[in-house]
Amino acid sequence: MDIKEGINRREFLGKTALGLGVASSSLAWASGSGNPNVLALKGGTPVRTKPFPSWPETAEIDEKNILKSLRNHRWCTYDGEFIPRFEKAWAQRVGTAGCVMTPCGTHALHMALTLLDVSPGDEVIVSPYTYIATIQVILLNYALPVFADTDLSTFQIDPHAIEHRITEHTRALLPVHIFGGSANMDKILPIARKHNLPVIEDACECHTAEWRGKRLGSLGTIGCFSFQETKVLPGGEAGALVSNNKDLIAKAYSFRDFGRDLKHPTHYKIRGTKYRISDFAAAVLMAQLTRFDELTAKREKHAAYLKAELEKIPGIMPQEHYAESTRQTYLEFAFRYDRRHFSGISREQFAKALQAEGIPVGVTYHPLNKDPFIEDALNSRGYRRVFSKQRLDRYREQNHLPHNDELCATELGMDQHVLIGPQQDVDDIIEAFHKVSKNAAALA
Ligand SMILES: Cc1ncc(COP(=O)(O)O)c(C=O)c1O
Repeated sequence: MDIKEGINRREFLGKTALGLGVASSSLAWASGSGNPNVLALKGGTPVRTKPFPSWPETAEIDEKNILKSLRNHRWCTYDGEFIPRFEKAWAQRVGTAGCVMTPCGTHALHMALTLLDVSPGDEVIVSPYTYIATIQVILLNYALPVFADTDLSTFQIDPHAIEHRITEHTRALLPVHIFGGSANMDKILPIARKHNLPVIEDACECHTAEWRGKRLGSLGTIGCFSFQETKVLPGGEAGALVSNNKDLIAKAYSFRDFGRDLKHPTHYKIRGTKYRISDFAAAVLMAQLTRFDELTAKREKHAAYLKAELEKIPGIMPQEHYAESTRQTYLEFAFRYDRRHFSGISREQFAKALQAEGIPVGVTYHPLNKDPFIEDALNSRGYRRVFSKQRLDRYREQNHLPHNDELCATELGMDQHVLIGPQQDVDDIIEAFHKVSKNAAALA
């Protein structure tokens, strides 16, 4: 989630979850007084004063599992009870031959790149519309993240922007399935096959979402998941690498433990590091799995209704999904905002108006391809040693993504927990959007 914007959603949610009310700019919400037909920002009564369900949520079984793990004194990766149980359960859910837990999704991505031998001087074609982790792991391996522009309607990597970016240096494709929807795998997989490139699916935001009935993470060479606490399957901080390639799974177990030979534990066969985890996250994840299907179905149902209602409002364009995207799991309900239909008020004003009505709307991602960390890497001693000046200059010249820029300038979203309460929660969201739409001129 983006923390650059003044209207950041996480900060807003934190306040509401803690029952601390809302930003000082919208005291009307706290007072609940005034005219319901007047915007809360202008002193009217807000549509909603009740917080949405907080996240992550827990139940008795979470506490039972944590206590069990604590009391059995088997806390680490070698002897933890829940780690192998979760790895087996998640591989089954996703439909892969294996699953290796990692400390977080970022580590799963880093391990995937390293196992596929993404090395200094290589290039990886990647979605620019993502969380920073997807890009940083490429830079960690001294490779170039080659951005393919974003499809404006689905917010996914534009499959038509991939093939012409492939060069002799391309080592892998790294599409990100964004917000619980799927990238266009019918287009991406044939390109990968044609050029003999592995596909790493960043499925960190898509837990059991599907493409043509197959679970995301199982279609490419490797899939990577995050179970960080904001995710729809939260375990605090945790991640996993999945694959149908048993050799890669064996290597992942080995890499996670300093390259240890699993058959001869005193031998170290490959380079590796310590990406082992504690059993507690797995204990929580096993508990969360018991409620996961029910919550996922609720999100799907509420998101479909919300989408159908919000797209009736001129200037609100919810994220679309490809026809082959047979299941979306909605980490976030996102949409594009067109100010021309709202008396010209800025996206920030629109979001503030909704926040004052009690709806936690905010900006998600900014254009990562323009972020200073990229230049910092390109100017570093290591990069200048590995890449010629001409290559780096060419990279800079090609680093223009007009559609991604437009998406980042117009997107707003709501975190998934607004979709897990009663139907009334969704009706409140719809009412607030209509109210702000009708009264936008008052803010112009
Ligand atoms: C698309 C994407 N990739 C990677 C990650 C990294 O996962 P983690 O935070 O578990 O390291 C995230 C998590 O926020 C993500 O949303």
